[in-house]
Amino acid sequence: MLKANLNMLLPILLLSYYSVCCVKATVTYDHKAIIVDGQRRILISGSIHYPRSTPQMWPDLINKAKEGGLDVIQTYVFWNGHEPSPGNYYFEDRYDLIGFIKLVQQAGLLVHLRIGPYICAEWNFGGFPVWLKYIPGIEFRTDNEPFKAAMRTFTEKIVNMMKAEKLFQTQGGPIILSQIENELGLVEWNNGAPVKAYAEWAAQMAISLGTGVPWVMCKQDDAPDPVINTCNGFYCENFIPNKDYKPKIWTEAWTGWFTAFGGLVPNRPVEDLALSVARFIQNGGSFINYYMYHGGTNFGRTAGGPFITTSYDYDAPIDEFGLPREPKWGHLRDLHKAIKLCESALVSTDPTVTSLGRSQEAHVFASMSGGCAAFLANYDTTYSTNVTFHNMQYQLPPWSVSILPDCRTSIFNTAKIAAQSPQKKMIPVAGAFSWQSYNEQISSSSDDDNTFLTFTADGLLEQINVTRDASDYLWYMTDVTIDSNEGFLKNGQDPILTIWSAGHALHVFINGQLSGTVYGGIESPRLTFSENVKLSVGVNKISLLSIAVGLPNVGAHFEKWNAGVLGPVMLSGLNEGMRNISMQKWSYKIGLKGEALNLHTVCGSSSAKWVEGSLLAIKQPLTWYKTTFNAPEGNDPLALDMSTMGKGMVWINGQSIGRHWPGYIAHGDCAACNYAGFYDETKCLTNCGEPSQRWYHVPRSWLKASENLMVVFEEWGGDPTGISIVRRTTASV
Ligand SMILES: *[C@@H]1O[C@H](CO)[C@@H](O)[C@H](O)[C@H]1NC(C)=O
Ligand SMILES: *[C@@H]1O[C@H](CO)[C@@H](O)[C@H](O)[C@H]1NC(C)=O
Ligand SMILES: *[C@@H]1O[C@H](CO)[C@@H](O)[C@H](O)[C@H]1NC(C)=O
Repeated sequence: MLKANLNMLLPILLLSYYSVCCVKATVTYDHKAIIVDGQRRILISGSIHYPRSTPQMWPDLINKAKEGGLDVIQTYVFWNGHEPSPGNYYFEDRYDLIGFIKLVQQAGLLVHLRIGPYICAEWNFGGFPVWLKYIPGIEFRTDNEPFKAAMRTFTEKIVNMMKAEKLFQTQGGPIILSQIENELGLVEWNNGAPVKAYAEWAAQMAISLGTGVPWVMCKQDDAPDPVINTCNGFYCENFIPNKDYKPKIWTEAWTGWFTAFGGLVPNRPVEDLALSVARFIQNGGSFINYYMYHGGTNFGRTAGGPFITTSYDYDAPIDEFGLPREPKWGHLRDLHKAIKLCESALVSTDPTVTSLGRSQEAHVFASMSGGCAAFLANYDTTYSTNVTFHNMQYQLPPWSVSILPDCRTSIFNTAKIAAQSPQKKMIPVAGAFSWQSYNEQISSSSDDDNTFLTFTADGLLEQINVTRDASDYLWYMTDVTIDSNEGFLKNGQDPILTIWSAGHALHVFINGQLSGTVYGGIESPRLTFSENVKLSVGVNKISLLSIAVGLPNVGAHFEKWNAGVLGPVMLSGLNEGMRNISMQKWSYKIGLKGEALNLHTVCGSSSAKWVEGSLLAIKQPLTWYKTTFNAPEGNDPLALDMSTMGKGMVWINGQSIGRHWPGYIAHGDCAACNYAGFYDETKCLTNCGEPSQRWYHVPRSWLKASENLMVVFEEWGGDPTGISIVRRTTASV
């Protein structure tokens, strides 16, 4: 075979590199690769979800993706952001999908559009609008006519928008691939025939839309032809598509993992991530997408879970704040350069695999036209080895792959990091704000406040059915009458109130006084409150503030999961023994008074009476705070340090920063991290004994030079005087 040196390879590379953007091109595929305008391509892609950053951040994120060696940007489409009520569409601001795709096109990159419309994504309700659940007779993601009708309408809407803007590659646009459904395989496995029929329908429906570009279904082994089944995971080197004529595509190469409130922060070492990518390519893979390349932020109430944090950093190559995460970003860039130097050999032939030792292999792509590329792998997790390949010696660190674009020169090893790793710092730039406070009303069954609707029902109602997710908060209120001859009044043994809730968090007030707080977690959203409570003779007011912390996005029939106080609610230690108060008359209020007053806006906040100075409420539950501040100078990304607060929400200039919950401390095993060996999300964890999330991203574009209004709603009782604004900067080493 002929050996080409790097200089000989370069012209071939440039030839195959000509831009396919902006010319009408065909997109097809074969067993080796996606074929764009007649050319097989090795495509490197990365997920950037447009609503998880701001339009002002998009150009820079896309540019950093391009500099990082990406060819393709992949995004989901966020149905519940686009259709807040049936037939009422929204495509502005962070939901400007067309604007986002056009920016990608302008940067000369391609797009993989994952329409879903089920998307999971740790996003509220997996991307489904909550109203969808209440369409009569609906059942999600199965052979169900109301669901299929709604899914078709939305999918068609998106495809037609793309066509109208000429965004498919066949029209001269950047979209080369689409996705229908998302990780349906497991649901199908558990539910059989109706889901299989639905999968067939979804594939046919998608194909009938005539986009001209291929569709994929991820984690769907029996994806109907010609839809390409693809792999998601930490590793996909052993994945084989269901037909020999389909290319090997990795739609989600997990760069890290999400964080939940109460959970530790996962980190995936880049040496291992690079190894997994090199192994995928050396085994004939030709399309790899990093999930996430930029994770971003779950602004507002968009986080799913429940309990997913506001940060969706994901340990991605670009961090939540839009800065390259080094050395991850730089090391992957170097990997991509090395892979691209092999592209012509990779797409022209299948690899020949030979053993170089007990845990060592060579994967060689030697093409008829003379190109040769080799990947030398050492799977041993402990020992470095020297291998002989084509009469040359190569030293391979443990758990690594070396890339030889000419079958001679090792230009990259996945475990040898050349990229710099400067430290990221959070530097306080503003604080000691002058705060004012406003006490949220502790509602009770006898409120005559008509700011917002109170209604009554016999018994306990499911929370989301009542709120339709218009607010995290629902008040459950009832009365308990205590007779003067109750024994506990004399013996001092307070009765015990026991409350079973489907989640996700609960504050219990007795006669306006906080009696306790309980909450679930990522393992189970359910919770039980069981405490002695102070009751007095006559009518006692029991007020339960039940709180949702993001709707589930995954799991068997996740759409049917309940939230709120479903009971039973019992009082024990009375003369009668146990009193079951579940079925008595309860009053309900959706949301907080401060929400009804729009306290987070300039207009709403000026309508309320706030106090300050010595009257400022500190460390008191259910308190609103407001202040104004000037934008810190410079361009560094900004965050709020919320470490002195407990749980609640923050807004700046009316925009929701998201839920804060620094009071939820992460516990577990933060053992030292060794890159070698198979990674999963239980390895290489940080933040033991610390808040799962302390810093909350404040997009620069949401600030004015001065008079920025910051409003905080605090449930637990925190000290707002400790809140500061920090800038995220890179300290050189
Ligand atoms: C591998 O080769 C290098 C020199 O090329 C040598 O220093 C090293 O000791 C060798 N390692 C092993 C395990 O043989
Ligand atoms: C939702 O509430 C309605 C009444 O408003 C009731 O008829 C229905 O059964 C409830 N559904 C669930 C799932 O609780
Ligand atoms: C309390 O009442 C509810 C509603 O009637 C019932 O489902 C539950 O079983 C009762 N619990 C006990 C312990 O009696």
